[in-house]
Formats: sequence, C-alpha cells, structure tokens
Amino acid sequence: MKKKILVTGGTGYIGSHTTVELIENGFEVVIIDNLYNSEADVIDRIQKITGIKPSLEVFDLCNSEKLDVFCRKNRDIAAVIHFAAYKAVGESVNKPLDYYRNNLLSLVNLLDAMKKNGIPNLVFSSSCTVYGQPEKLPVTENSPLQPATSPYGNTKQVGEAIIRDTTVSDKNIKAISLRYFNPIGAHPSSLIGELPRGVPENLVPYITQTAYGLREELKVFGDDYNTPDGSCVRDYLHVVDLAKAHVVAVKRLIDENNKTNYEVFNLGTGIGVSVLEAIKSFEKVTGIKVKYKIVARRAGDIEKIWADPSYANKELGWKTLSTLDESMKTAWEWEKKVRSK
Ligand code: WQD
Repeated sequence: MKKKILVTGGTGYIGSHTTVELIENGFEVVIIDNLYNSEADVIDRIQKITGIKPSLEVFDLCNSEKLDVFCRKNRDIAAVIHFAAYKAVGESVNKPLDYYRNNLLSLVNLLDAMKKNGIPNLVFSSSCTVYGQPEKLPVTENSPLQPATSPYGNTKQVGEAIIRDTTVSDKNIKAISLRYFNPIGAHPSSLIGELPRGVPENLVPYITQTAYGLREELKVFGDDYNTPDGSCVRDYLHVVDLAKAHVVAVKRLIDENNKTNYEVFNLGTGIGVSVLEAIKSFEKVTGIKVKYKIVARRAGDIEKIWADPSYANKELGWKTLSTLDESMKTAWEWEKKVRSK
C-alpha cells in the first residue's frame, strides 16, 4: 500500500519538483493549492514525467473549515510537506500584512487540522532568510537567527517557532524544517520549472526572461556591497537536488529515524555565488549575452549568505549534485520550452 503524502503548494515551483520525486519514490501524492502563483495543468505535466497524476484540491489553507473537512477525509496521510506560502523578499517589504496573514494563518490551520486528525509528520519549507545577515559565514544550523530583514523572512522565523512549540506541546507531532538557500533551475524534462506570475521577483527567472526577450534588461540591485565584485552573494542550488531532500526528510519522519521531534537542516551547495557570477554562468552555458544595468540596492536584501551543508550531508545522507552551470542550463531549456507553446 503506497504511503500518502499531502503536498501543500504542490503545483508551485519547488512543490511540483518535489511531487515528481515523491511519486518516483513510490509515494501517493495529494496536492492542495490555491493556484495563486501556479497553474493547475502542472499536474498533467507531472503525469507526463512520472506516468502518475497526483490529485489536486484547489482551495486556500487560510480556509480552516475546508482544510479540516479535507484532513478528516484523508486521515491516512503519512506526512505533510508544507510549501504553500508567499515567498518574494522584495514584495513582502511592500505587503507585510498579506505575508503575515497568508504564511502564518495557513500554517496554524494546517497544524490544527493535523492534530485534530492524527496526521503526525510535517516537513516545513523554511528558508535561509531566517538567518538574516549572518555575522559568520558559512551558516550552520546553529548559526544565530538574526532579526529577519524582511517580513517574508520573519514569517519563516515565526513559522519555525510555531512548529517547534507545537512539537513540544504535542508529542504526536514530529517536524523537520528545511532551510533552503536559493533554488534555481528546472526538471531535465523541461516540463516543469519556475513560472512566476507577472514580473519575476527572483534573479534566475528574470535572467531567463531577459535572455528570451520578454524583459528589456535585468536590473542588478547594487554593486556596492562588501563582496568580491560588489554584487550580493547567494547559495544557488538545483531545484531537483532540493526536491530530493524532501523525500529523504519525509522518509526520516515516517521511519521514525528523527533524533528529536523537531529538526532543522540547511539545504545548499556550500558555495557562494554573486549576482554577476550567476549572470556569467548563464551567458557561458547559453552563449547569450544578458543585458543588465546596475541600479540601487533592493530593500530587504542581505549582502551575502551561503550554507555549511555538512550536517544535512552527514545526517540525511543528502548533498547537491548539480553545478551552477548545469542549473542555469536547465533554467534556460525550461524558459525556451514554456515560451514555445
Ligand atoms: C537573489 C539575488 C537580489 C532579482 C530568495 C527567495 C526566498 C528564499 C531565498 C526560498 C539578490 C538579486 C534579484 C533581480 C537582482 N528562497 N536580484 N535583480 O532575495 O535571495 O530570496 O531565495 O525560500 O524565498 O525569494 O532571491 O532571486 O530574489 O535575489 O539583482 O531582478 O539577486 O538583489 O541579491 P533572494 P532573489
């Protein structure tokens, strides 16, 4: 009998790639998504990749009644992976209440419904933004959580605290927070990938849309940071590598190999890459020159961050496999495919 996994936000960028890996690892996947930042036809494309179509329930997790009815009907869910959230740093600075309501109310509703219906395991989509601007790099899971520099980052910090406190108060709930660094790239089939609605907030989709001619030019938000080339440094990992980590985390909880009821893992390559280096990587693998202009810094941005992934490498037996160049290549292949429809 296949174990059933609920993936909230499963038609989104990371959620869809994780759904593929879960199905390919023998799990049954049910998705809840409000389609705020994704399309329903992603499940058809997941079927093209895996041969299996995950079920999709379209509603908002902020609707606690609907969520409770769903969980009552799906008490056999072995684990939940919670992706559904708004995730753009810059946007969150301008719309804090949207971010706090959406990201926190949905999480509280989810935990409530899990407790009421005896659903035991949660993998939480957290983020390196919980570290704010770290004083010491690379960051480990024990690095102090600096005050978040954006409402988005704060919803991840508060979200982790909500989950941790729930696992303390209710021993039936076990959870793992996965702190992603910067996911990029697309599935090698080019059938799924990052497809933000409207103007992309994140760097790589903006690069690929500029290269494709959808955007006039890329704005590089500042080159006056204290970094080798002045532009911000991040740890860019391939989304398929990231997706695979979720399968490992779900198995860890289901098989009760977790060391404590609440665990945290950094998911990154361990390599810091600047914005200008990311642009150069894209240009190298595609042969396309990216038109860009240096502009003022973006509110909410931190200067530099990259992971020390050794704990996840050792404890989860997980590490990234794709290089930056390979990730950029898949991002470009996806952009061309999705625009050629
Ligand atoms: C990366 C760098 C920008 C756009 C993201 C997600 C967040 C979390 C962490 C998962 C920054 C620069 C960007 C552009 C630019 N991921 N940039 N021009 O802000 O690090 O956060 O990863 O949970 O959800 O938002 O990623 O891609 O927005 O920015 O110069 O048009 O690229 O200043 O230095 P960020 P990003």
